[in-house]
Amino acid sequence: MMGPAWWAVLVLLAMADAVAGRFVVEKNSVQVTSPESLKGKYECAIGNFGLPQYGGTLQGWVVYPKDNRQACKEFDVSFKGHKSGARPNFVLIDRGECFFTTKAWNAQLAGAAAILVVDSKDEPLITMDNPEDTGTKHLENITIPSVLITKKLGEDLKKSAENGDMVSVLLDWRESLPHPDERVEYEFWTNSNDECGPKCDMQMDFVKSFRGTAQVLEQKGYTQFTPHYITWYCPEAFTVSKQCKSQCINHGRYCAPDPEQDFSKGYDGKDVVVQNLHQVCVFKVANDTGKPWLWWDYVHDFAIRCPMKEKKYTHECASHVIKSLGLDMDKINKCVGDPEADEENPILKAEQDAQIGHGKRGDVTILPTLVVNNRQYRGCLPVSWTKVLF
Ligand SMILES: *[C@@H]1O[C@H](CO)[C@@H](O)[C@H](O)[C@H]1NC(C)=O
Ligand SMILES: *[C@@H]1O[C@H](CO)[C@@H](O)[C@H](O)[C@H]1NC(C)=O
Repeated sequence: MMGPAWWAVLVLLAMADAVAGRFVVEKNSVQVTSPESLKGKYECAIGNFGLPQYGGTLQGWVVYPKDNRQACKEFDVSFKGHKSGARPNFVLIDRGECFFTTKAWNAQLAGAAAILVVDSKDEPLITMDNPEDTGTKHLENITIPSVLITKKLGEDLKKSAENGDMVSVLLDWRESLPHPDERVEYEFWTNSNDECGPKCDMQMDFVKSFRGTAQVLEQKGYTQFTPHYITWYCPEAFTVSKQCKSQCINHGRYCAPDPEQDFSKGYDGKDVVVQNLHQVCVFKVANDTGKPWLWWDYVHDFAIRCPMKEKKYTHECASHVIKSLGLDMDKINKCVGDPEADEENPILKAEQDAQIGHGKRGDVTILPTLVVNNRQYRGCLPVSWTKVLF
């Protein structure tokens, strides 16, 4: 349940929801690959049920059944190939008489890989929805995709199929993914501290289990992820106090709590700030070179290779990890700057500014916090994500 695939599904659902929420008919394309006379791409609309293969394609043969052409009853024929390796069959079904979901269910029971519902009128394509009344009884079990095609394309496909032509179609969901301006933007407010008990362990588990998925989503442009780190500044009157000296860098400008809540042992708050700063800089340098997803590798590897427990929570250990990922150490050092200097660090200043709420989002003060499309969610990560996305 907690595997990467689960996260992918949630994020994809969020995107589907974002699109559906604005009453946009989600279109994808049907590509006819044979017969020659019909070759080409045609528009179609994805049903609001079943499992569209977002980002994927599905190729199959088109079958137009002799009877039960509206698929309102169970079929007494099978659309399943007899041998393994047989290409899937897409069943052409006429619109009307019963719910789209009933048609899909009957076709699925008979082994269809997808249904192509032929519109009954010449009209702009609509989204096939699940009915609100009791006709939905198999809804939860419909897994095959359903697409609505225009009356014209449907008629042409029927003719070809009835002529005995090999009618081959490719369903392509790659273009139905949200465009760059519709991608999910999310922020993860986190911390490099690995000695805060269950909270830190949970953050690390999240990074470990979500890393692969996050990277794929980012590489394909479905998401724009930004990590953030909370720091606060030391009140001016206290900048020279022992507390601020051990918790802050840049003369009290950026502080974090002591990992063990004990100033006399282990690492200090300022060590956490410095490592957080390394993580923001890794993101910045990686993002500037078009590979923002390297942040996930860095955070993951750093936690494993440089734990506080083993006294490896250091600049040196961080440098090894950074170099192992092929990132430019000079750029990172420049970004980190001099923690002892009595001056602003532009990166941490920007992080502090980002903590301040704007619009619908409040100030970020608690770790870990997830901000999805500028709404703030926090607490137990998996539960939060569920709330965000449904
Ligand atoms: C859906 O499938 C599950 C598992 O096979 C079954 O227990 C359930 O009754 C089905 N639900 C409907 C509404 O068909
Ligand atoms: C990351 O790069 C993208 C694309 O170049 C840019 O829009 C975004 O603002 C960058 N994010 C940060 C935090 O620098």
